[in-house]
Amino acid sequence: MTNQKILILDFGGQYNQLIARRVREEQVYCEVQPWDLPLEEIRRFDPIGIIFTGGPESVYAEGSPHPDPGVYDLGLPILGICYGCQLLAQALGGQVVPAQADAAREYGKTETVFDTACALFRGLPERSVTWMSHGDYMARVPEGFALAARSAACPNVAICDETRGFYGVQFHPEVNHTEHGRKMLRNFLYEVCGALGDWTMADFKRAAVARIREQVGGGRVLLALSGGVDSSVAAALLAEAVGSQLTCVFVDHGLLRKNEGDEVEAAFACRDLNFVRVDAGELFLSRLAGVTDPERKRKIIGEEFIRVFEREAKKLGRVDYLAQGTIYPDVIESGKGKAAVIKSHHNVGGLPEHADFKEIIEPLRLLFKDEVRQLGRELGLPEALVSRQPFPGPGLGVRVIGELTKEKLELLREADYIFRDEVAKAGLAGELSQYFAVLTNLRSVGVMGDGRSYDYAVALRSVQTSDFMTADWSRIPYEVLDRVSTRIVNEVRGVNRVLYDITSKPPATVEFE
Ligand code: XMP
Repeated sequence: MTNQKILILDFGGQYNQLIARRVREEQVYCEVQPWDLPLEEIRRFDPIGIIFTGGPESVYAEGSPHPDPGVYDLGLPILGICYGCQLLAQALGGQVVPAQADAAREYGKTETVFDTACALFRGLPERSVTWMSHGDYMARVPEGFALAARSAACPNVAICDETRGFYGVQFHPEVNHTEHGRKMLRNFLYEVCGALGDWTMADFKRAAVARIREQVGGGRVLLALSGGVDSSVAAALLAEAVGSQLTCVFVDHGLLRKNEGDEVEAAFACRDLNFVRVDAGELFLSRLAGVTDPERKRKIIGEEFIRVFEREAKKLGRVDYLAQGTIYPDVIESGKGKAAVIKSHHNVGGLPEHADFKEIIEPLRLLFKDEVRQLGRELGLPEALVSRQPFPGPGLGVRVIGELTKEKLELLREADYIFRDEVAKAGLAGELSQYFAVLTNLRSVGVMGDGRSYDYAVALRSVQTSDFMTADWSRIPYEVLDRVSTRIVNEVRGVNRVLYDITSKPPATVEFE
């Protein structure tokens, strides 16, 4: 692993993962930990600097989260963002109060003036726009602190005590709306904390391989491969580390997109591991016969996947480790209160209950999605696999509305392939967050040649989003949609109408089921 680490103490703000991603984009390793991490563990973590995130509370409110005060005596630089800035101010002898009237309560883009002598703002223009979202005000700045930025409404948008390496900003440098936010974070890391930028995927790979070898020893490892990015990268990493001690069971549920199953198999054919592909398409279809309710479909697909996987696992006898492609956002999210279940998402590769193993290994649990993709490239996986869009565990099963049949799946596969092909040809693939075709169960009248047709309507869906919690529909140029539509009705028999979904999420969801 790398030597240098940044610790991010999480006070519950909405941009906490984003801060971590920004830090890692600057090639510095960091971890997000809860705000009440004991001082002893902070010491053991041995960071080169600490970032306090924002949070929804007020520092003066009873019961609001405060870190162990010993954190200020560790001799480590601290950057406080928003709530984190007010924590610094209050803990070190300043005073934070609710902002009166409009005076210093700021939301949104704010013209800000900086003292560029302050290390945080070195090399940046004197004026630029920041993104604010705070209702509290630092009425008194602690002794030893200088004012390093101001706005029209607020004289102390940023404070610093450079001798101790303490910096506080009321705005959010991690969001794109703050014009030079990334550079400010970079300054904190490199100018203040003395970062060397030693977090690279090549290093991660080397260290991860060594760690897996040490942990696994001569043991046997089993991995459920879904064909998605995470489980594929986990498989490639484990193959590199323990080679033939690894068995990957690729359950092809027959609900993958065109050619996908073969692509996955081809990516692993040349590697040193035991690769088992189970073609379970017929089995899944028979289990799903007559089922139209989306939640029932999801449940059946999820359970059947586990069952098939377990059956294969049993053939192997006892394995020592079960590997999973869990990634960092899942780790950060777990344990927090979850919102209402709109759809029972399941990730293929969920935990089988009866498999015989002694421990779970999750070699990607510290990586963000874009880092997982980078690692995949480092491991030599094909780009088509590494840059694959998010794909639901139940696959095309939730993209054929209503009952699933082999014929309908074939129609959808072809239509979806054409959509992807035209998006790629138009050079749009990198700009769209997720795009796919859906086979509706609507049949309608059309005219083909001289005859009447009564065929299916295919819906095209494409969204722009950063987190998939909310999404907007993509403004794909009409010419591209036109080519897709023409090709689908010409090339896919059984489809005579193409619709484009122009609903955002909410109120719609990304998938149709
Ligand atoms: P929704 O339809 O809930 O989708 O707006 C949001 C994102 O999640 C993906 N999705 C799933 N991913 N298992 C998964 O691993 C699932 O069951 C599942 N259902 C939806 C969807 O493709 C989109 O990216």
